[in-house]
Amino acid sequence: MSHPTRRILVTSALPYANGPIHIGHLVEYIQTDIWVRFQKLRGHECHYVCADDAHGTPIMLRAEQDNVTPEQLIERVWREHRADFADFLIEFDNYHSTHSPECRHYAELIYRRLDKGGYVSRRVITQAYDPEKQMFLPDRFIKGECPRCGALDQYGDSCENCGATYAPTDLKNPRSVVSGATPILKESLHFFFKLADFEALLKDWIASGPIQPQMVNKLDEWFTAGLQEWDISRDAPYWGFEIPDAPGKYFYVWLDAPIGYMASFQHYCDRVGLKFEDFWNPESDAEVYHFIGKDIAYFHILFWPAELTGAGFRKPTAVHCHGFLTVDGQKMSKSRGTFIKARTYLNHLRPEYLRYYFASKLSDGIDDLDLNFEDFAQRVNSDLVGKLVNIASRCAGFITRRFEGRLADPLAEPALYAEFVAAGASIAQAYEGREFGRAMREIMALADRANQYIDEKKPWALAKQPGAEAEVQAVCGMGLNLFRVLMIYLKPVLPGMAAQVEQFLQIPPLRWADLDAPLLDHVIAEFKPLMQRVEMAQIAAMIEDSKESYPPAEEVAKPSGPLVDDPIGPTVTIEEFAKVDLRVARIVKAEAVTGADKLVRLELDLGGETRQVFAGIKSAYAPNDLQGRLTVMVANLAPRKMRFGVSEGMVLAAGGGGGIYLLAPDAGAEPGMRVK
Ligand code: 2FM
Ligand code: ZN
Repeated sequence: MSHPTRRILVTSALPYANGPIHIGHLVEYIQTDIWVRFQKLRGHECHYVCADDAHGTPIMLRAEQDNVTPEQLIERVWREHRADFADFLIEFDNYHSTHSPECRHYAELIYRRLDKGGYVSRRVITQAYDPEKQMFLPDRFIKGECPRCGALDQYGDSCENCGATYAPTDLKNPRSVVSGATPILKESLHFFFKLADFEALLKDWIASGPIQPQMVNKLDEWFTAGLQEWDISRDAPYWGFEIPDAPGKYFYVWLDAPIGYMASFQHYCDRVGLKFEDFWNPESDAEVYHFIGKDIAYFHILFWPAELTGAGFRKPTAVHCHGFLTVDGQKMSKSRGTFIKARTYLNHLRPEYLRYYFASKLSDGIDDLDLNFEDFAQRVNSDLVGKLVNIASRCAGFITRRFEGRLADPLAEPALYAEFVAAGASIAQAYEGREFGRAMREIMALADRANQYIDEKKPWALAKQPGAEAEVQAVCGMGLNLFRVLMIYLKPVLPGMAAQVEQFLQIPPLRWADLDAPLLDHVIAEFKPLMQRVEMAQIAAMIEDSKESYPPAEEVAKPSGPLVDDPIGPTVTIEEFAKVDLRVARIVKAEAVTGADKLVRLELDLGGETRQVFAGIKSAYAPNDLQGRLTVMVANLAPRKMRFGVSEGMVLAAGGGGGIYLLAPDAGAEPGMRVK
């Protein structure tokens, strides 16, 4: 088994520092971690670095909303992310932050070099600006009606209803998600990276094979559309690094995000004494791999290699894209309880179940991957508990009880052992090529073969035969040696269980190279159960825990449609109706709710009493326009706790697909009057 030692640097995408890690993220970190652990197991020098992506407008606004500084927010999230990763056995060699001196250093260095090389242009552009909040608005912070199909409440860059993409200035009735104000247009000087200067270089690089064939269509589309200049600056107020010699201008978060890979690696080099240049110089013979989701391919396949080249660094060896996670065939959903945070999962289930399940479904492609919970439980229970652990539990007892833990020498079936070792070549090839599903299938076929061997030899029957002592020891020793080979193969996926097995077998950490040397005449420890079955009740509890306790925004005061498509409901008696206390209310304050697409927070005066109500009417009304208006509310609705606070009633509105219309009394009505 000779494979020259390679020097490898691996990264996963940097998670944003404003939210928790969830099972959707974990596909990538588990995929990368398995690949890295495989390389290390093979004896290669492999370094795995990552960091939090800590800059940008959403983080700035989130900190404001939480009443903390951005520094406090990113510090807290960094700790949570690290704990989540560690508990999922995702073992980074370094986990840093883009808000770090190293990242500032490389962002400035790369920018200066690009500028010097003539790859940065400057020009004044016109952009949407929130006059109330006094900031430029990213596309995602503007909402309005789709210019093509008229759908309400669409983001400033694309319509979720008809798929149109457009500029935020094309939206009808646009408003700022931050303040509710109508955006104005304002000019400002921006800095651009001249991506088109690198077109030939990028085409050559891509032709050399660093990209999956499934991405080629996408690439063709991008080149056909033409490479545009990339806007890399943002104006204050912005949370990020100020651009050198450009006061009030900041690097766009996506400029410093991939530079975070370098920053984390530099931080690591300083810690352990490696040389950064050995990995990043153009002449470097080290390998650099980025694992990412297919949604951020443009940044990694076009911008990043171009930037690196323009700044005098090497390009990645390859960029590996993966698909998204669906749960039971659908997008993860908070109301269905399938938007599962890493921590919630860990509160109910062992991380290695998910590591194995994802491994069994991963390939080198970019197709989406489905987590089906019945399939999950069945796969884990049948493969890991039923096949794998079973081999050890069937053999270990005899060795402990009858032979004081000593394994036989020589091996009972050298040919069978050799078959298991020989299978390693194909399994290694599958791991190397990120065909983890194939690797798992081949390993489980070997597990079946090992169980079959034990079934044939029947050590439990031999144990009853006088004079068959040596054979019992030989068969069980053989079974445990086959089990050990399987654990070597599975160690990248099941590192926690591998550690338990090393303890059980009383051996130093397993390496791929140990395949050639079975355990002979060796004393093992007593067998302890290695893995419990997954129970559907645990999964149900996890899903229950993941359901958010507030009604989704859509369910709040949802106006119904016209009679034809929304027929009249069942009859209520006058007594039943009389229970509903409807009152005239004056909207004394109205404001957008940051983080909620459809909600407006209203303060309602009921003629002496003030109520807070969250109403799903943001698509139809700018908060400013609501202040001072009279409306009608349900005053005796039980208060409901929502994510943003308690809603103490409900305002009445009419509408359907065509809009939302708040009900209002005729002139002269006073707040507090009963509506009968
Ligand atoms: O899409 C995201 O979640 C980004 N935070 C990924 C950044 S990856 C890299 F470029 F830093
Ligand atoms: Zn549309």
